[in-house]
Amino acid sequence: MFSKNKFIIGVSENGLLARAKSRLRGPLSTKHKIKQECHGIYLQIAPGLHERFVVFFKNKGIKVIALKKDLLKVDVSLSQIYGLLNKNPIVTRYLVRVFYGNNSVNKIKDIFPYLKNKKIRVFAYPKSLQEKSLELFDKAGIELTPTGYDYALHLVESEGKYFFGLIPKRLNYQKIPDSQKTSRAYYKIKEVVQKTGLNFKGKQVLDLGAAPGGWCEYLKPLATRVVAVDPAVVTVQGDNIVHLKKKLEDIVPELKKQKFDVIICDINNDPMILLDSILKLRIKGVKVVLTLKFDRDNKKYIEHQIEQIKARLGPFSKHLDIAWLFANTVNERTLFCRFK
Ligand SMILES: C[S@@+](CC[C@H](N)C(=O)[O-])C[C@H]1O[C@@H](n2cnc3c(N)ncnc32)[C@H](O)[C@@H]1O
Repeated sequence: MFSKNKFIIGVSENGLLARAKSRLRGPLSTKHKIKQECHGIYLQIAPGLHERFVVFFKNKGIKVIALKKDLLKVDVSLSQIYGLLNKNPIVTRYLVRVFYGNNSVNKIKDIFPYLKNKKIRVFAYPKSLQEKSLELFDKAGIELTPTGYDYALHLVESEGKYFFGLIPKRLNYQKIPDSQKTSRAYYKIKEVVQKTGLNFKGKQVLDLGAAPGGWCEYLKPLATRVVAVDPAVVTVQGDNIVHLKKKLEDIVPELKKQKFDVIICDINNDPMILLDSILKLRIKGVKVVLTLKFDRDNKKYIEHQIEQIKARLGPFSKHLDIAWLFANTVNERTLFCRFK
């Protein structure tokens, strides 16, 4: 069964999974000295997002280890991870694959006995292990089939061992490709909304640095009116979207005459310069989302800049939060604030 999001849900399939596991552990386990690991869930993630993933899991009280920049080990069951990911579609966007490796062996050939009389498809990490293992399985006469398989064999090379698990095809992880959006920025504003609960329904929104229009695309079905400011072309059009083809600094007096409920800004510029312009607008009670784009990805430098931004906004804001979203790059953070 497909979820609305990115995964086939395994939660309701526990019985089947348990049976598969018991079959795997069955009579062979004593003979072949398979070490049982607690849960054995490995997540391959988009490279470089490991710190944000670690924070995400820790905030949920889940033990997690970043083994590599693109590989995590999480202490949850397979059904728990499917359930969690289904509730957090943004996270699934940055997830490459879920691996189930509750058993470990020192040599790949020690897995052969578990694959007898099964039609297998191999999913391996790292990529180089895929070809290597396929060759070995093929030579051993194991039936490998990319579509008509009964079991997915998950195989992860880590900590000098091979972790593996067998999953019935219907419980195997499936990532549904994202639909085409105007820009990747679309997912940034989507994540902001999921994280903060910010509501754009019926709102007057000022979208600064709006081109090519990912944020406009997101707002179009929600906001009453979007004023999109950018000297570049905004490709998203609609009765509720007004494009002002200008630079922010050149139209501050014009914008000052209008009252907005929410100001969102994704301009590539020094955050302090952008804040100076934003603070000149009618900001009373306004909510702001601002992508902070730093000229370096050095963490200490970014922390220092964030302190300065907080000090600058402190006197004006009722609520202020700065987050490192999954959708942010290494030198970006996202600021949410509500003005007094
Ligand atoms: C990362 S893109 C924004 C993407 C946009 N949020 C979306 O959803 O597609 C940054 C935009 O800032 C615009 N920009 C740069 N300097 C600007 C300025 N001074 N005033 C207004 N827009 C500016 C650029 O033209 C560019 O389109």
